[in-house]
Amino acid sequence: MARKSSRNRRRFDTLAVHTGVDKDGQYNSVTTPIYPTSTFRFKRPGVTTGYDYTRSANPTRDALAENIAALEGGASAWATCTGMSACATVLMLLRSGDHVLAPHDLYGGTYRLLASVMPRAGVTTSFVDQRALSAVADAITPATRMLWIETPSNPLLRVVDIERLCAIAKKRRLIAVVDNTFLSPLLQQPIALGADVVVHSTTKYINGHSDVVGGAIVAARAGRLADDLGFLVNAMGTGCSPFDAWLVLRGVKTLGPRMAAHQRNAQAVAEFLVGHTKVRRVYYPGLPSDPNYKLAKKQQAGFGGMVSFDIRGGSSAARRFLTRVRLFELAESLGGVESLIEHPESMSHASMSPEQRKAAGIGGGTVRISCGIESPDDLIADLKQALAKR
Ligand SMILES: Cc1ncc(COP(=O)(O)O)c(C=O)c1O
Repeated sequence: MARKSSRNRRRFDTLAVHTGVDKDGQYNSVTTPIYPTSTFRFKRPGVTTGYDYTRSANPTRDALAENIAALEGGASAWATCTGMSACATVLMLLRSGDHVLAPHDLYGGTYRLLASVMPRAGVTTSFVDQRALSAVADAITPATRMLWIETPSNPLLRVVDIERLCAIAKKRRLIAVVDNTFLSPLLQQPIALGADVVVHSTTKYINGHSDVVGGAIVAARAGRLADDLGFLVNAMGTGCSPFDAWLVLRGVKTLGPRMAAHQRNAQAVAEFLVGHTKVRRVYYPGLPSDPNYKLAKKQQAGFGGMVSFDIRGGSSAARRFLTRVRLFELAESLGGVESLIEHPESMSHASMSPEQRKAAGIGGGTVRISCGIESPDDLIADLKQALAKR
């Protein structure tokens, strides 16, 4: 756990480079040391240097948590070992009999956790299209305790109104949680829009180099909820290792410049795909023709690096196309410097039932792209040659 930095008025890129980093008072290293220790010597019984056991807290992990809390504008944060462990920890705020409202088109792993794991603990979930605010209000029951929001959604990049959804949550006394993985705190600040808790898969843009899995939880305010989250991270042992924290801390420092390149490429790729005869539909909120454009422009500071599209010919055409790309790597995940491409039906969203995928609008021909930071012309040339083949 780490407290909000007092330096949070600094501009984002400066905060990303400096916050939490300075942990070495002995040799003044400019980067944060990795403290690969499971335990810390007590000065005498009951008296520590502030650390006693790494599951509970570790200086390298605290450095990353302080950094992420500052970037999200939160009161405190915890760095976890995966994005799913962040989600699971937050869901353990709930008790048997509680009910969650989640989007109908969220990340497949979060869907699996809500639909197949949480019922074992007596927690149920309704999946609703959160673009319809009245449907959200109508789906709230006396047992509802949490509103889970993921925007833009995965993989169809639908945008929902965080501010208005959080206002509903506040009125009905629900905990509003936003998964901010797809945009990162650079492009979207859910706490400023009313969220109580933000979660991340830091595996994605925050780390940005596809070389570690990690997650983060950010609490908007100090108080009972934040205390409970800190208790759960320690009790459940979901904090990340000092080595992983160090890698993610190295990655987050370049979030701003990386994200600028991801966005430049996503816009170029989306504009190329829109005009292609083999493409039925493109999903990118940065296209003025996209139904999400207006809301994305209002609540986001950019449109992000993800683009999805439906290829004509359905699942078999998508599978053929995916064997022909050369520069794009056929791989799950997103947010790394290298461009990735994947098939939600058989990969990232295979954990959803066919009915659930259909309800979410994810077709066999849907392809999801995570634009890296390469030269846009090379990305477009690769898509062009792969689409040209029959
Ligand atoms: C939006 C979103 N949330 C959470 C996760 C889970 O993160 P992780 O794979 O780090 O557990 C992912 C993974 O793709 C994701 O896309």
